[in-house]
Amino acid sequence: MTKNYPTVSEDYKKAVEKCKRKLRGFIAEKNCAPLMLRIAWHSAGTYDVKTKTGGPFGTMRLAAEQAHSANNGLDIAVRLLEPFKEQFPTISYADLYQLAGVVGVEVTGGPDIPFHPGRDDKAEPPQEGRLPDAKQGNDHLRQVFGAQMGLSDKDIVALSGGHTLGRCHKERSGFEGPWTRNPLIFDNSYFTNVSLVSLPDMFGCVLELLTGEKDGLLQLPSDKALLDDPVFRPLVEKYAAVRMLNFYTSSMDEDAFFTDYAEAHLKLSELGIGSMMFNVCLVSVAKGTTLSTYSKQFALAVHYIDGFQNQRHYLKSGTCYMRSFFSSSFKWARLGDT
Ligand code: HEM
Repeated sequence: MTKNYPTVSEDYKKAVEKCKRKLRGFIAEKNCAPLMLRIAWHSAGTYDVKTKTGGPFGTMRLAAEQAHSANNGLDIAVRLLEPFKEQFPTISYADLYQLAGVVGVEVTGGPDIPFHPGRDDKAEPPQEGRLPDAKQGNDHLRQVFGAQMGLSDKDIVALSGGHTLGRCHKERSGFEGPWTRNPLIFDNSYFTNVSLVSLPDMFGCVLELLTGEKDGLLQLPSDKALLDDPVFRPLVEKYAAVRMLNFYTSSMDEDAFFTDYAEAHLKLSELGIGSMMFNVCLVSVAKGTTLSTYSKQFALAVHYIDGFQNQRHYLKSGTCYMRSFFSSSFKWARLGDT
């Protein structure tokens, strides 16, 4: 599935690029990447897929949303970003907050996350209470991320890895302390701290990687809950990625985490943005298939729309074509042989 992004002018794109460069220097110098990631996430995480309200539309600039108890401390992020709004007045707050999140991940060594501009600023804040409660468990996480925001189980686990950055502040959330030993580096250490991974050491003994708690690091109830779930736990272990290279050496390979995190962050930052392009796949069974045959297959394909992958499975042979209903060119595009 592809997205139909809003169109922005060349000048707007240039302003975004310039602003991004300035943000890189500023966020690195101020060590405020964690706060930038949190403002981006708390802005987007209020999205409600059913009512299409909330989401990354700049409403965190409003005192009313900053006053939501989940947002304690985010007034600081708003203030830090205000000079950028003054310098680049054409950029919406909505884009600015999401850009700051993307840059925060990038400058701390995390994956590059694509940024598509064009979010509008909305006038009304979302209702309070849509962000997750750290004291609750997996049902609650699925309710907030899945039912409300429309994200997947994999997104929940990958995004939880955002706690590789930053810390809790007693006066803001009631919790205190960082999740990882270096809260200004974006890596997979959230998972290696949170998981109870064991690996044989060179003497064949079992060396248990320290859990966060043993190491004096923080784990929220919602972090620990990831270990108790049959779907979440294997993902935690995958992202912890302790691999034996040989009998003597192990390595931490964070590629899987970075790939899934970037994908999930992109989704989060674009909740409520652009209409989904409706992709329909057809199969030309033989060369020279007539339009009327196409139409029959078209109806069949429509019946099976739930993602391109599934259609490829269903339409086992032939040549696969895709058409975007909302694309301006309205042409058939050959995707390749099935
Ligand atoms: C899974 C549900 C989540 C819960 C319950 C949760 C809860 C919390 C809490 C209680 C804090 C401490 C705030 C403070 O005291 O300053 C915090 C901080 C933070 N959260 Fe989350 N969070 C969740 C998901 C996420 C996600 C999805 C991201 C980003 C992808 C994220 C990024 C951060 C960051 C970077 C901080 C540190 C902020 C700082 O150091 O100032 N969190 N979170």
